[in-house]
Amino acid sequence: MTEAYDPLRDDRGNRDISITKIGNPPVLTPAENRETRPAPGAVRAFLTAEAMVGGYGRGANILNGCTVAAEKGQIAVIVGPNGAGKSTAMKAVFGMLELRQGTVTLDGEDITRLKPQERVARGMAFVPQTRNIFASLSVEENLEMGAFLRRDDISRTMEQVYTLFPILKEKRRQPAGELSGGQRQQVAVGRALMTEPKVLMLDEPTAGVSPIVMDELFDRIIEVARQGITILMVEQNARQALEIADMGYVLVQGANAYSGTGRELLADPMVRKSFLGG
Ligand SMILES: Nc1ncnc2c1ncn2[C@@H]1O[C@H](COP(=O)(O)OP(=O)(O)OP(=O)(O)O)[C@@H](O)[C@H]1O
Ligand SMILES: [Mg+2]
Repeated sequence: MTEAYDPLRDDRGNRDISITKIGNPPVLTPAENRETRPAPGAVRAFLTAEAMVGGYGRGANILNGCTVAAEKGQIAVIVGPNGAGKSTAMKAVFGMLELRQGTVTLDGEDITRLKPQERVARGMAFVPQTRNIFASLSVEENLEMGAFLRRDDISRTMEQVYTLFPILKEKRRQPAGELSGGQRQQVAVGRALMTEPKVLMLDEPTAGVSPIVMDELFDRIIEVARQGITILMVEQNARQALEIADMGYVLVQGANAYSGTGRELLADPMVRKSFLGG
């Protein structure tokens, strides 16, 4: 393999399309949010990452009590400024970052100490922000790579991925690196779906794609959720993402600045002013 697959490195993507493209950077700090709804967690949802605290190596905490949760078939969206810790939260939920405090539970099981591959075996799939495909491999080989843990027949799942993303079937023999940005994201999502996950985690799946391609990808993500798969997704296109979100989380400095349904966040004047450009 020519490319090292190491999502822990170089994982600072996409600074171009950004909810932070507003005149003044948000001055909100977590302490100012006492009046907004507390994040869910009292009753554990299907996927619950509660009060996560952690950082890289021996470094300072990047996550300062972040909580995210989603039920089966729900779409949960994390938004927030660059550097807020969104990708770090995703890595923590997937087990790529050891938590100093907090818990992650899946379907009632405490998985906080499990390795990523053990979480995959329990039904989690993660599409990282960058380097999420093997560019030199064909589309179909990428999908096969997604299923490498499976011992059963994968052809049915591959057909399902091709039904969801017909262009990938057309281009299945082409090196994935030759595809457009939107199509490469389809490959990445398709590869994750090859594990037949219960939880699909996507870190900025629409990074760098046009608004039309973004809408299409969101429609496909809604379709996946309707099959009962839980989606936990980070998005820079905050407004559009919150429109399709059952649950939304605004992350600032590693903590929940706002939590609520997508609709509640879209209607919240402070969220609109600080994060949605008015
Ligand atoms: N591998 C790493 N090692 C050390 N520090 C890191 C690492 N990755 C990220 N950080 C730091 O953690 C903080 C949060 O970064 P993170 O990538 O989680 O933010 P983000 O909200 O995903 O930002 P973006 O919107 O740019 O994707 C930043 O200060 C960043 O420098
Ligand atoms: Mg990120």
